[in-house]
Amino acid sequence: MVMLGQQRLLLTGIATEDSIATATLRQALEFGAQVICTAFPRDLEGARAVVAGIDPSVEVLGLDLCDPAGVEACRASIVERLGGLDGALHAVAFAPARALAAPMSVAEPQDLELSFRTSVQSFSVLANLVADLAPPSGGAVVGLDFDGGGAFSVYNWMGVMKAALRELTTYLARDLGDRRVRVNLVAAGPLLTRAARHIPDFDVLLNAWATTAPLEWDAGDPSPVADAICFLLSPFARAITGEVLHVDGGFGAMAGPLPRG
Ligand SMILES: NC(=O)c1ccc[n+]([C@@H]2O[C@H](COP(=O)([O-])OP(=O)(O)OC[C@H]3O[C@@H](n4cnc5c(N)ncnc54)[C@H](O)[C@@H]3O)[C@@H](O)[C@H]2O)c1
Repeated sequence: MVMLGQQRLLLTGIATEDSIATATLRQALEFGAQVICTAFPRDLEGARAVVAGIDPSVEVLGLDLCDPAGVEACRASIVERLGGLDGALHAVAFAPARALAAPMSVAEPQDLELSFRTSVQSFSVLANLVADLAPPSGGAVVGLDFDGGGAFSVYNWMGVMKAALRELTTYLARDLGDRRVRVNLVAAGPLLTRAARHIPDFDVLLNAWATTAPLEWDAGDPSPVADAICFLLSPFARAITGEVLHVDGGFGAMAGPLPRG
């Protein structure tokens, strides 16, 4: 059985060649899925070029997940092109730089509201889209977490957004279970994407992984994360929901830095 054979997937969050969603597209096609991609309107042209380099037959729609009218237009396009949806990847997050660097106490309410709508609430929007378009056999939605088990010296309000995303995942799993829609997260280790480069002192996270992860972690290779996403979107994960699967080289399982020989 091909892992994603006959699965109709929507992959959000393609911006560049390095995006986790781009790696997921590669793997999903390899595993037999039928895919439609979306990109934030500002990133649409670049995303189309990236996707064309992988498979020119894959369509890329513009989608701002915070824009209800855009979501409705996307829903209509999916129904027209695929007839329904078996799964979706949420690979979307944003916070203004001030919310990622300054002390927590100086964050502006409008920055936090934008961060929450983009990085947390939009996951619920996508999960409900899958629930509406899934066949009676059900569907799956996967989001992306970054979970170091506590506070880092960087990441700040995005850490709070990810904690909210983890909690939201459990409530969505509760709400959508009777429609057989599964809701899960992959907690990825640090990867060198555009979003990561937006985080001040991202090197702090890379150094933490270098000292603490028991498995070697390659921040330039999103394919292990993409494989886990594909697994969670596939029928092989049919009894898994409300879960966070850590694909972080074992970082989260360690209590502290390891002696390196
Ligand atoms: N890179 C890492 O180290 C890392 C680690 C763990 C989790 N993550 C998470 O992975 C996800 C994907 O990020 P990435 O690292 O691939 O970076 P990326 O910059 O390639 O992707 C982020 C995407 O979010 C999109 N986006 C922003 N606002 C949007 C909106 N309103 N509607 C639709 N799309 C919007 C951007 O256009 C972009 O495609 C994010 O949730 C991020 O927090 C990243």
